[in-house]
Amino acid sequence: MSALTLEIDLHRNSERQGPGSSEETIKALELTSISKKKDLKLADIGCGSGGQTITLAQNIDGHITAVDLASDFLEELNEKSKLFKIEDKIQTLKESMDCLPFQEGSFDIIWSEGAIYNIGFEAGIKKWREYLKPDGYLCVSEITWITNTRPQEIEDYWKTECPEINTASDNIKILEDNGYALRGYFCLQEDSWITNYYKPIEKRFSSFLQRHKYSESAREVVKVYKAEIELYRKFKEYFSYGFYVAKRDK
Ligand SMILES: C[S@@+](CC[C@H](N)C(=O)[O-])C[C@H]1O[C@@H](n2cnc3c(N)ncnc32)[C@H](O)[C@@H]1O
Repeated sequence: MSALTLEIDLHRNSERQGPGSSEETIKALELTSISKKKDLKLADIGCGSGGQTITLAQNIDGHITAVDLASDFLEELNEKSKLFKIEDKIQTLKESMDCLPFQEGSFDIIWSEGAIYNIGFEAGIKKWREYLKPDGYLCVSEITWITNTRPQEIEDYWKTECPEINTASDNIKILEDNGYALRGYFCLQEDSWITNYYKPIEKRFSSFLQRHKYSESAREVVKVYKAEIELYRKFKEYFSYGFYVAKRDK
């Protein structure tokens, strides 16, 4: 079984696959001044099993196209949509975020929590701009330095995991240079990492290992997550996910 398949399996039936919270999803939504508009069209890119998609669907009047490459996550999202009786508001789509079948100017809001790193912040915001209506909004969370200097250990870790990691001011400049005007920024609180993401993963380690008969590759997946969690606990004052809310310039 590939490392990716194992990772998807580790996240099976989890509420979310990255740090975040419904409060922060709503906070970002409120920073767009169109959140109360009727019949909004929203794309949620790298939606995973839809932790934020469900919150969004419950808080907008409109329709969401929820995109991910992993069918398992999309199936979970379809199940949840039925459970919450909002299946008419969410359509799932299995596509890659770097090659989306969207027409220019289709969406009022492009949303992406903890997923743009898969194609890179700059490449993503450039590519997705064309799918926005002229006064549409981009709402993305991305791993971000929250101090200007930091210990070498954490610098080296994130430079390997996510070479494009920047400070918020650098990312805001990238947004401004690429046809967006910032409308709001905040970084995720500690609970969104620990309570909502890492603790639930830690609880799944043992059943995951059992399911995979303690194979070397399953143990490796757990080891990598444990190292990441340890680094978060040690260096959390130096990085977080930054949430960027920006309006498309004309
Ligand atoms: C860290 S998870 C975040 C999921 C969700 N937004 C959340 O916060 O719970 C990143 C997601 O991006 C998806 N992904 C990775 N590469 C992708 C690609 N090229 N196109 C679409 N989705 C992709 C993964 O399957 C995964 O669901």
